[in-house]
Amino acid sequence: MSSPIESVLQEQRLFYPSLEFSAQAKIGSLEQYHQLYRQAEADPVKFWSDLATQELDWFDRWHTTLDWQPPLVKWFDGGKLNISYNCLDRHLLTWRRNKAALIWEGEPGDSRTYTYAQLHREVCLFANVLKQLGVQKGDVVGIYLPMIPEAAIAMLACARIGAPHSVVFGGFSAEALRDRLNDGKAKLVITADGGWRKDAIVPLKDQVDIALTHVPTVENVLVVQRTGQKIQMLPGRDHWWHDLKQGVNADCPAEPMASEDILFILYTSGSTGKPKGVVHTTAGYNLYTHITTQWIFDLKDTDVYWCTADVGWITGHSYIVYGPLSNGATTLMYEGAPRPSNPGCTWEIIEKHGVNIFYTAPTAIRSFIKQGEHLPKARDLSSLRLLGTVGEPINPEAWMWYYRIIGQERCPIVDTWWQTETGGIMISALPGAMATKPGSATLPFPGIIADVVDLEGNPVGVNEGGYLVIKHPFPSMMRTIYNDPDRFRSSYWEHIPPKEGQYFYFAGDGARKDEDGYFWVMGRVDDVINVAGHRLGTMEIESALVSHPAVAEAAVVGKPDEIKGEEICAFIILEGSQTANEELAQELKQHVVKEIGAIARPGEIKFTDALPKTRSGKIMRRLLRSLAAQQEITSDTSTLEDRSVLDKLREGA
Ligand code: WTA
Repeated sequence: MSSPIESVLQEQRLFYPSLEFSAQAKIGSLEQYHQLYRQAEADPVKFWSDLATQELDWFDRWHTTLDWQPPLVKWFDGGKLNISYNCLDRHLLTWRRNKAALIWEGEPGDSRTYTYAQLHREVCLFANVLKQLGVQKGDVVGIYLPMIPEAAIAMLACARIGAPHSVVFGGFSAEALRDRLNDGKAKLVITADGGWRKDAIVPLKDQVDIALTHVPTVENVLVVQRTGQKIQMLPGRDHWWHDLKQGVNADCPAEPMASEDILFILYTSGSTGKPKGVVHTTAGYNLYTHITTQWIFDLKDTDVYWCTADVGWITGHSYIVYGPLSNGATTLMYEGAPRPSNPGCTWEIIEKHGVNIFYTAPTAIRSFIKQGEHLPKARDLSSLRLLGTVGEPINPEAWMWYYRIIGQERCPIVDTWWQTETGGIMISALPGAMATKPGSATLPFPGIIADVVDLEGNPVGVNEGGYLVIKHPFPSMMRTIYNDPDRFRSSYWEHIPPKEGQYFYFAGDGARKDEDGYFWVMGRVDDVINVAGHRLGTMEIESALVSHPAVAEAAVVGKPDEIKGEEICAFIILEGSQTANEELAQELKQHVVKEIGAIARPGEIKFTDALPKTRSGKIMRRLLRSLAAQQEITSDTSTLEDRSVLDKLREGA
């Protein structure tokens, strides 16, 4: 972490939004952005308090807008509201009652549309079923679902009755699910028989059955029927959603929640083996996701908005479900992924539904490039007016392709930098207000005081690399790590120690600011790697590998990959009696899939006799990174305990 961060990317191109785009945009000029930014900076309390009054519906008004006892924060203390009310009920009182809230496309070609009134009804039924199964305010509910409307419905139903949800990505294994359910002491799990992904069924309920053999707190499982394949239903514990919904009332008033009541827990990787349960609360999260959706995606009531993330990640929480619905938008959800039987499905869906705003990830863009431009060119994409990306730094080549082929040089691109921990987008263009540069997330959102500093908290110079930090509390910031307040402090607030009353939220990313103040995020500076936009802790994968009886020691690093950004490369020392061979390498890869999920499958396993370590025994990952990428080792090796290790590793590579 103390190694100097060097920035090599030089990119000079500037792209201005068209006059037409700016003229219709919510924030239409750089002056307007600067004015908002200055207002928020000068008086953040007034800025957020005015927005909270204008943009959200409240049952009770708050008495204290901001209570900041670093690093603990409370926003809108004393207030009462419900995010499910803000996403549903309030729109029923307007013309939006019969507007499409959710358009869903299933992978096999089925589709469903819910109006606000219909979505509200389903959420109320779901909430009443949860209550009937004994779920009370404050009980944690696990959600392990495919990308089907019931995922959004389940989240909103939990929010409605005040039960914090803990959504676990459907691609995680039974073991990963078990650990997350246990950490949250979940009382009930919502799942489906299975889901469709890349022409195959993901057997979710089977995974739940395995996980629950070791989760004593779960009393009931609510199962949505999606694929219809045969599954086990344990009498007394497992219930079909379609059965229980028959008998319940369609009226379920939204529970008045305190501003700081927990809305959800979402697990993310850090630099230890144990995932962190990031805690978000109700009011600040509602407000911040609401206003960022409105200004960054420039949402209009006539738009069809499509975010391709999975609801199992923060992007799905904030920008498929809560942000868009709070604004009364039409949000599109797709069950599957581009797949062999229909590689052009993305463009087909844009054409079919006349999608106006499209938000995806750089890794997806790179795989679209690989598939070839004939696929998007075969479809009518003229409805698109704005594009977005998230998840990792976007390489300028991918940005240009996205701009030319998908946006047809007409659509601004918002490159949005943020994290599970920040709940909402921190740095991004407001598309009608500012020019974009390929590869830069541009400027911070009004109210976000971001900077690039050294380890003492001093701002670094223009175009110098440093650590990306946030210097003032904002409404959607994480409140703590569930069950682990000490780790919350040490992971985020102590890397750069506070000075003169100034606290630094350490994001874990390296960045630089250019002469226009534009931010260029360079990637993680901790032991976290970003594979296809998914955050994975190297320690988590190492623990999984070491849990295999053949493995004595493991070190995992990221290695550059054309499509995924990074791929996992694992260096393995075997137990004495074991012999390295291809079969064992395959077995170890499969073992990681079982322990964590397919997203963590190592791309490469390298067997070795020793690992490069410092004299104090710390693995020197930067050397392994260079070896994995087959680069010259130019950095300092003087702290290496045994220099011959490097030569041996190089020979083996
Ligand atoms: C990376 C996803 C560069 C970054 C919303 C961050 C990005 C981590 C960008 C958070 C971007 C996300 N440019 N890097 N536009 N967006 N990242 O928690 O390293 O899954 O710290 O949240 O992704 O990943 P997470």
